[in-house]
Amino acid sequence: MINSGQFNAYISEVSHFFPEKVITNKYFESYLDTSDEWIVERTGIKERRFLEKDQPTSYAATRAIEKLLVKRGLSPDEIDLIIIPTVSPDMVYPATACIVQNNIGAKNCWGFDLEGACSGFLFALITGAQFIHTGMHKKVIVCGAEKMSALVNMQDRNTCVLFGDGAAAVLLEPTEDKSYGIIDAILHIDGSGGKYLNQPAGGSLNPASIETVEKKMHFVHQDGRTVYKEAVKGMYESSAEIMKKNNLSPDEIAYIVPHQANLRIMTAVAERLGLPKEKLMVNIHKYGNTTSATIPSCLSEYWEEGKIKKGDYIILTSFGAGFTWGAILLRWAI
Ligand code: UT7
Repeated sequence: MINSGQFNAYISEVSHFFPEKVITNKYFESYLDTSDEWIVERTGIKERRFLEKDQPTSYAATRAIEKLLVKRGLSPDEIDLIIIPTVSPDMVYPATACIVQNNIGAKNCWGFDLEGACSGFLFALITGAQFIHTGMHKKVIVCGAEKMSALVNMQDRNTCVLFGDGAAAVLLEPTEDKSYGIIDAILHIDGSGGKYLNQPAGGSLNPASIETVEKKMHFVHQDGRTVYKEAVKGMYESSAEIMKKNNLSPDEIAYIVPHQANLRIMTAVAERLGLPKEKLMVNIHKYGNTTSATIPSCLSEYWEEGKIKKGDYIILTSFGAGFTWGAILLRWAI
């Protein structure tokens, strides 16, 4: 990534919101042919959070952004741009960003949703950073937010145990010291992988009909084994490439923050990169796979716990439907 602008974008604050309702693996045991043991062993997930019926994705995003503004001591009017990466927008349109803007009363901004599936946060972070690089904006919010519980078939043990709801937001601001902030990015899409992970109905190809509902086409469909193999490969290769390109050895990396889809995938990626498990950010055991919220929520929790220091090199990496994947190198600036 070449940033020829005057500024680097850095994360100046980060926050997260998870709903109160905890769904343990025992809940699925109560009505499906599954077990706590299988879920923990195969995925690392112990529990996840679900939003209430009347709480859409914008509810989680609004709570996360309200917290972000309080932590940074900003009024909503100071925000220039809100980007919401999500696969579970409140509606097809208007964008969830518009609903959130109205909820928080941000009078001087624009915004949009971005669909990059599990790589949505990475894609949105780089998109937001461009507006900082050029000097066009000074305060950009990127908030990964999802209500995955609305998209999974609760009768399908292959998928329903994997996902959770939540939101996490970062604030991007400019710095003239280009050795800090977002340093580099390697991002990819490959549409030939689309058949392995998708939600086939609800768009223009298969608009909602009695047939699409009966065939359960409005839910997440995944070929888990294929996605598993491609996820390890994609996250490992993009992370290794970004380390090599920036002359960074495993010793110099403070953390890797992989998309939290499966603990075994994350561990395999870290091991192949030569990173010990203390350098792997993990919160999948508490929240499951929250799609675009996994990476920022890890950053937020570790930051709140005082585990990230100024100057730390951090790799964010993701893989998801599309296929979409990549890695971002950050140097923590606060
Ligand atoms: O976030 C987007 C990217 N997504 C990912 O990165 C996810 C990638 N894939 C995975 O994480 C894993 O493939 C899964 C967690 C989805 C599945 O784990 P796996 O070890 O790959 O299992 P599998 O799909 O190979 O299935 C093994 C067995 C099957 O039974 P048979 O065919 O061997 O009799 C499944 O039916 O496990 C069965 N199974 C379950 N058993 C108990 C699948 N789900 C469950 C379940 N409880 N919940």
